[in-house]
Amino acid sequence: MKKVILLVLTAAMVALGAAGVQAAGKNNGAAGLFKAKCSACHSDAIALHMKKDRAGWETTVKMMQNKRANFISNEDAQKIVDYLVSLQSGKK
Ligand code: HEC
Repeated sequence: MKKVILLVLTAAMVALGAAGVQAAGKNNGAAGLFKAKCSACHSDAIALHMKKDRAGWETTVKMMQNKRANFISNEDAQKIVDYLVSLQSGKK
């Protein structure tokens, strides 16, 4: 059973890598936070494929915070915004 869980986890991490998360190395905590919070209602790909500046991500993450009360704290929101901004440089 443990092996199955490990396998699923590994597959999820590979999928995240394939989505172009080059900054994952120095952003492990934030990447996990993003994954946990931002794939609860929809695929996290919705955010990974989008290009926005910091102000754009702040607005979007604020909007997502408002969709479910007390699910994403302001502190977590800030980390997620930083993480999403850190991914932007590799996008066109
Ligand atoms: C409580 C459910 C919920 C959570 C948690 C959530 N979302 Fe969403 N998200 C939605 C819904 C519903 C939509 C559909 C479009 C809308 O209502 O704007 C959406 C749409 C989006 C869109 C496309 C619309 C746009 O304005 O660009 C993005 C990007 C997005 N979410 C990113 C995120 C990110 C990043 C997080 C984590 C911080 C997150 N979502 C967490 C429910 C959620």
